[in-house]
Amino acid sequence: MTPDPSTAAAWWRDAVIYQIYPRSFADANGDGVGDLPGVTARLEHVAALGVDAIWLSPFYRSPMADAGYDVADYREVDPVFGDLGDAERLVARAHDLGLRVLVDLVPNHTSDEHAWFRAALAASPLSPERERYVFRDGRGPRGEEPPNNWSSMFGGPAWTRVNEADHTPGQWYLHLFDSRQPDLNWQHPQVRAEFLDILRFWLDRGVDGFRVDVANALVKQEGLPDWDPIAALEKFGAEDAPVPPMWDQDEVHEIYRTWRDVVDSYDPAGSRILVAEAWVEPPTRLARYVRGDEMHQAFNFNYLGASWEADSLRQAVERSITANHAVGAPTTWVLSNHDVVRHATRFATARPGDHIGIGIGPRDPQPDATLGLRRARAASALMLALPGSAYLYQGEELGLPEHTTLPDEARQDPTWFRTDGGLVGRDGCRVPIPWHADAPAFGFNTTGATWLPQPPSYGELAADRQAGVAGSTLELYRAALRLRRELALGLGELTWDTTLGNERVVALRRTTPAGEILVLTNLGDQPVPVPKGMRVVLSTDDQLPAGPAVGADVTVWAIPDSRSPAGGPPT
Ligand code: GLC
Repeated sequence: MTPDPSTAAAWWRDAVIYQIYPRSFADANGDGVGDLPGVTARLEHVAALGVDAIWLSPFYRSPMADAGYDVADYREVDPVFGDLGDAERLVARAHDLGLRVLVDLVPNHTSDEHAWFRAALAASPLSPERERYVFRDGRGPRGEEPPNNWSSMFGGPAWTRVNEADHTPGQWYLHLFDSRQPDLNWQHPQVRAEFLDILRFWLDRGVDGFRVDVANALVKQEGLPDWDPIAALEKFGAEDAPVPPMWDQDEVHEIYRTWRDVVDSYDPAGSRILVAEAWVEPPTRLARYVRGDEMHQAFNFNYLGASWEADSLRQAVERSITANHAVGAPTTWVLSNHDVVRHATRFATARPGDHIGIGIGPRDPQPDATLGLRRARAASALMLALPGSAYLYQGEELGLPEHTTLPDEARQDPTWFRTDGGLVGRDGCRVPIPWHADAPAFGFNTTGATWLPQPPSYGELAADRQAGVAGSTLELYRAALRLRRELALGLGELTWDTTLGNERVVALRRTTPAGEILVLTNLGDQPVPVPKGMRVVLSTDDQLPAGPAVGADVTVWAIPDSRSPAGGPPT
């Protein structure tokens, strides 16, 4: 079943897209690191879940200083993941299963092992080789101070000083992330031309689009001025918040217009897409990335950052939809990815937004797994009932929690190293997936080797323990995705239902091509009744399935009693 060409152009507007983190999905060769043949072999699981597409985190040649987000060659597959033939077979198999494929593109920086950066280091200051990156002389009498005060996202300064050919300390280069991820200079025509060519390289191999890494960082403010992040925090998220000199510069948009021309040239109907990973606030500024001639989607981190409170969720939904509506773009929704604490853990902590990119470690207060899972199921069902497109992260369909007790010696995230262990970082959400409770490495491979250790709790959450089990998280996701399609929940309008008179319930009415659907998420501590005349077709409650009341931390979907559900009996 190849993707249906009749709906090709608009497929992404209400698509559910499943993120695969190849290092941790499935390991065919048993070396402890997941690979592309492993992904291909497990694609049936993803197709059976009922999603429309996959997004693959980077699998390109890389020294893995940032788990592959440090690319040494954009046109090669890293041997740890396989080879180009494996990538082509993966795309073909996905298409056979009716899944579209997005790949990750990392344009803000390369690896320090990229041929261009090696050439830059070997060349002298002011050479053309250095101009493709951001090299500057340091401040201070002997250039011993970094050129400005910017910090790396992973901790420490955003500048590293190099030794010149005569072995004396010389210029500094900019890296908004790890020192092994030098930022490219996007004012340079060669950089722009190279990425247009990389887009074509993967489009020629049949991919359906790109997730664009740190899409808001490519252009920096002229003169690279110092920046006061603490003062800016005061206005964080406000419409008049200052724009940082390293993020979200206006000039970045002209780059994406040229990219849009390339993807559209492959399919004028517009079925190949660009997705911005851009941590941009407020939503009105993020919406600028999805104007008609730029990208198709942008991840909605405003929603991901919302806390488990009715007001916070309502506000995030409202602000995102309004901002996207203004530019004619659908909104996206996401709760977990490879950079944040999994939502089954995040929602069991007091201040969930605090854990984005930072992690939870063994010395932190440990979350209540049962509460976290209950809320995660409710949050996912709310997300899947919202209009637009939703992103899932591998393992959330199993209800996987963060691994919060990883031993220090297992850690790999540069955040851990660059903060001298001050922040544990993102390893806890990147642990290999459990497929079989009773197999080595829970079925991740056959040897039992894993690049990060799995927590014992992953056994009972393994896919084979949940498949076919009523009320399991896996079956809940399958049911939700089937009903989402039948009830056309990704399309249509949303209005808030204020008739319940309970502020702690997120209550929304969806009007879709398939009719009216009531969605209730109870963030209070008391059960609330389902309004008369409505019949529950999906409930996240494993205690009170499809009952007349919505328990605490539960989401239900309900349709008018008189209506038969589009696709058979209620779940
Ligand atoms: C993005 C990626 C993250 C990576 C960073 C630098 O935020 O999602 O994993 O570390 O960019 O490439």
